[in-house]
Amino acid sequence: MAKNATRTQTSRAASTPAAKRPTPLNPDATSERLVPETNWTRRHLLDVDDFTSAEIELVLDTTDAMKEVLARDIPRVPALRGTTIVTLFYEASTRTRASFELAGKVLGADVINVAASSSSVQKGEALLDTVRTIQAIGADVCVLRHHASGAPYIAARESEFRVINAGDGQHAHPTQALLDAYTLRSELGDIRGRKIVIVGDIAHSRVARSNMWCLTSLGAEVVLCGPPTLMPVGLNGSTSDAEEHDLPPVRVEYDLDIAIEGADAVMALRLQRERQSSGLLPSLREYSRLYQVNGERLAKAKPGAPVLHPGPINEGVEISTEVAHGARSLVEEQVTNGVAVRMAVLYLLLRGEQP
Ligand code: CP
Repeated sequence: MAKNATRTQTSRAASTPAAKRPTPLNPDATSERLVPETNWTRRHLLDVDDFTSAEIELVLDTTDAMKEVLARDIPRVPALRGTTIVTLFYEASTRTRASFELAGKVLGADVINVAASSSSVQKGEALLDTVRTIQAIGADVCVLRHHASGAPYIAARESEFRVINAGDGQHAHPTQALLDAYTLRSELGDIRGRKIVIVGDIAHSRVARSNMWCLTSLGAEVVLCGPPTLMPVGLNGSTSDAEEHDLPPVRVEYDLDIAIEGADAVMALRLQRERQSSGLLPSLREYSRLYQVNGERLAKAKPGAPVLHPGPINEGVEISTEVAHGARSLVEEQVTNGVAVRMAVLYLLLRGEQP
């Protein structure tokens, strides 16, 4: 875009409703405060790697309040009335996009969905131009999923609205980690000291990375398991390796039958074939033989240990059908909790006490 055009668009954007924040809310909306005053300080949700345990607990406690709203006969409140949320997705999504849309609507916000596949991105529009366009529309929040790691940081730097990272490349998926933590807390109680095994394609998984940060921050013992070719480079086994590679203190175990012993919970990951280069796996059959979470393996975890999967599932590959749909599966609870967690995040970003 030409420099002058950028200036014109930016100055126009400055006169949009978005520029009037931090008080973008309809005063009527304040009539229902869903949680007590908080000490929330964040303008954006880009990652959980720098979240304190208190911040995570605040999101999870706020989620409890949102669950109460969702349980009402008519689950609609005006808490975010007068605000506009834009979901901007450059990659496919079912759970994340739909749950953000519902979360916004339950809280009374207007929600606009933009899929790159059917937008002017197809005509060659650059990310920053799309971001400026969304700002000019008057968005208060942009929920952004992008195939490039770091894209939400650029959007946050270059715009007036708040940005929520809905998954960026192989980097982070913070709301997935928060909903996983919420689901685990609901099932296990305190997560501190619990052994949680994350198994599968760790190297390509933004879900794994965000969960490592979130769960270790809450005091869990996180064990990563998968083939060496699907482990982050240089992460060989000890927690000190992890720290050297800018990861939280996690342990690596390549043998799932050993890793799963005594686990309090098991999280299977999708094989992300779209992000893998060829030659990382001998065959899917071999992968399933060694790393599938199935009934026989689950018997080695603690009795009743739950199983999570962020979805979408390659059923019969990383998880067996009986486990995916069995009594110990929390897959549907994860999706359900995703709405409440995203309500909590939207609420805190727009109604918290941030600058
Ligand atoms: N877990 C997750 O991000 O699912 P979607 O790709 O369907 O949003």
